[in-house]
Amino acid sequence: MKMPKDFLFGAASASYQVEGAWNEDGKGLSNWDVFSKIPGKTFENTNGDVAVDHYHRYKEDIALMAEMGLESYRFSISWPRIFPNGTGEVNEKGLEFYNNLIDECLKHDIVPFVTLYHWDLPQALEEKGGWKNKETVDAFVRFADTCFQSFGDRVNHWITFNEAVIFCSLGYLTGAHPPGIEGDVKGYFQTTHNVFVAHARAVELFKQNGHTGEIGITHVFNPAFSIDDAEENKFAEMHANAYATHWFYDPILKGEYPEYVVNGLSEQGLLPEMTEEELDVLKRTAPMNDFIGLNYYSPQRVMKNDSALVMAGGRENSTGRPGNPSFDGVYKTVKMDDKVYTKWDWEISPEAFLAGMHMLKDRYGDVKIYITENGLGDVDPIVDGEIMDTPRIEYIEGHLRAVKHAVQQGINVAGYYAWSVIDLLSWLNGYKKQYGFIYVDHNNGLARKKKQSFHWYKEIIATRAEDL
Ligand code: BG6
Repeated sequence: MKMPKDFLFGAASASYQVEGAWNEDGKGLSNWDVFSKIPGKTFENTNGDVAVDHYHRYKEDIALMAEMGLESYRFSISWPRIFPNGTGEVNEKGLEFYNNLIDECLKHDIVPFVTLYHWDLPQALEEKGGWKNKETVDAFVRFADTCFQSFGDRVNHWITFNEAVIFCSLGYLTGAHPPGIEGDVKGYFQTTHNVFVAHARAVELFKQNGHTGEIGITHVFNPAFSIDDAEENKFAEMHANAYATHWFYDPILKGEYPEYVVNGLSEQGLLPEMTEEELDVLKRTAPMNDFIGLNYYSPQRVMKNDSALVMAGGRENSTGRPGNPSFDGVYKTVKMDDKVYTKWDWEISPEAFLAGMHMLKDRYGDVKIYITENGLGDVDPIVDGEIMDTPRIEYIEGHLRAVKHAVQQGINVAGYYAWSVIDLLSWLNGYKKQYGFIYVDHNNGLARKKKQSFHWYKEIIATRAEDL
């Protein structure tokens, strides 16, 4: 089988991870510009000041994407480039950059798939309470509106937020991302709610203003599976899926929160502050979501937590250190002997990917799905000057095959975006952890070079994955 004609083969990036030009052309500070400069916060204190200089080299990069046959490019818009202070005056130079980027994509017949928020919050808003402050919600809606109005004539695919679970949990539970707060469980749930409301209001505005095209949200997809059939571990699985998946997907796709989590949070006094109006906007916009974006890298294997430990949850905290407990101590994620892991201890499982997509279909029906990220973080071998990233090819091949099976089994997957199109800054792992089809030589003026996977993906796209 060939993948359907309108299925989009793409690849992705995010503004802070590729652009650089952190203080050029009127851009304001983002929370990451500030956080990454606090000593010890990132691997070898790397930051995105220059990143891979996509801001200046986007033409060269898009030409390479075109050469690969890429059908769609998912990138994000840096909010502080458009609104240096988060709100207030628009920075025309910021709009100009994204206008140019979009036009360059279209020149090469590459469909731009735009993420509005991939974690680089204007620092001015972070300082006023960030996502805990509901004024950030109003500011986001204004930013979204500006982007719809400025780019909506050419952009037909919009993602409001990338991975709320990560920026909220790492921001407020583990402190690994800005604003660097640890153990604020209530704050964590409040920020997730505020983000869902911001999403819903942006979706409503998009529809009310008659913009054409699709709008949705991208979530981490980290389905939990019990390590065995023991009742207590099955319970851990149910609990993990409720807190890590249903809490995030239900308010978007069903317009209400999962009862199990609401009850649990109420008992512990952790339920976010929610107004009737906010609950209403979630309810009435649920049917307006055109798709859900899934970022899938690995599943979580869970079991009952038998220690007194309580730690923050989320994938970043499940990197294979055996027995990583969940934020509430009910379950823990474990590394299993019979599973395969990356160098960073993320499990590789196309089988769990497919099984997880069926879990979603069972709960949410035929909602359209885009795989908005999937890929392998690795240290690529260089042999005689060539970047031989065979493990990446194998990883993507396995997962694309799972997508193909999903489509054959009636799951509505409309596109696949590998992470990432080009080697870029991994938030906490610097430039060491590579994901791209295009290599960037940090010892040679950031020169680009095609990897083995570049040629492989080109062939996959050209044949519409017929041979997978
Ligand atoms: C996702 C993010 O969490 O995973 C990306 O949307 C990120 O921005 C990717 O780079 C891989 O994570 P990491 O930590 O390996 O860079």
